[in-house]
Amino acid sequence: MNATILPTSEKHYPVLLKEILSIISPQNGGTFIDCTFGQGGYSKEILKFNNTKVIAIDRDPDCKGIADKFKQQYAKQFVFLNKKFSEVDKIVNDKSKIKAVILDLGYSYAQIKDPKKGLSFENTGQLNMRLGLNNFSADDVVNKLSQKDLELIFKYFGEEKDSKIISKRIVDQRIKSNLNTQKLVYIINSVKKKSGRIHNATKIFQALRIFVNKEISELVYGLINSAKILDVNGILLVVSFHSLEDKIVKYFFKSLSEDKKISRYYPEEKNLNKLFNLKLKKPIYPTPKEIKINKSSRSAKLRYAIKINNKINFESDILKKFSKLLEIENLSKKL
Ligand SMILES: C[S@@+](CC[C@H](N)C(=O)[O-])C[C@H]1O[C@@H](n2cnc3c(N)ncnc32)[C@H](O)[C@@H]1O
Repeated sequence: MNATILPTSEKHYPVLLKEILSIISPQNGGTFIDCTFGQGGYSKEILKFNNTKVIAIDRDPDCKGIADKFKQQYAKQFVFLNKKFSEVDKIVNDKSKIKAVILDLGYSYAQIKDPKKGLSFENTGQLNMRLGLNNFSADDVVNKLSQKDLELIFKYFGEEKDSKIISKRIVDQRIKSNLNTQKLVYIINSVKKKSGRIHNATKIFQALRIFVNKEISELVYGLINSAKILDVNGILLVVSFHSLEDKIVKYFFKSLSEDKKISRYYPEEKNLNKLFNLKLKKPIYPTPKEIKINKSSRSAKLRYAIKINNKINFESDILKKFSKLLEIENLSKKL
């Protein structure tokens, strides 16, 4: 998930940058929304063309330092907001002029390596995982939610097959003292014994990060509200890093770009009210050259679609499709 930076050199590499620029054509000008500003990898390249404007969003207040520098250099072209991208529709005033919205999901290398954020199982100390603008932390989740709730979170958000036994051990162990990162990793290792190709704790930590940052509703509403603010012919682009994210993005684009039969009596009648034109059914992957330079880009997938009409009520199907995941996210109301 920390896929935009090369871990060994700590140099920042915006994932699939060349491909994204060739799709959005910033040289032709326009207003672009960078929903996941991070270190500004995409914004920087767009701003080089002085006929562009960039509205950048990031939930992490630590991005403000880099954003301030961008503001100094591109005062008239750039604005940064410390907000969540699920609220993108509330941020943009002139909704009819947005040429492209980009979401580069996940975390930056800087965030993973920041011990205060406690995102990694390699960290020591208290569990946290808040990226910014959160209501609760991983410490609350692990130390307060019931065994059943933890099991659901690990099963659905981490696809962890040992969810049940890990949740039981957590609840048994936390009676003695609150669990921190090391104790949680110890419990997971004690259940899973041997480490395979990926670290034993990867799936449980992924599940906790998704839950703490409400990544399912962020993505679902981020997609819906981004689609609403795009101009006709505007482009929505999403870079995802794990299968759960990609499943949501793929379904969203596919279901809103398909010809649906509108009547069983007239099967040849097509739904002409599609929201998107999907140019490619398959995602775009980083080239071997990019993966060689930035190893962690290897799990990235880019999907994009072009908005073709101003249909406004299109969200009920996607909300229904992912209702189980949204329901599990709502377990946080108990905290
Ligand atoms: C992979 S990094 C983006 C890197 C960026 N494209 C670049 O080239 O510098 C993902 C960023 O998205 C931010 N983010 C994640 N979820 C978010 C959300 N729901 N709303 C706003 N920002 C979010 C993270 O804080 C992080 O900075």
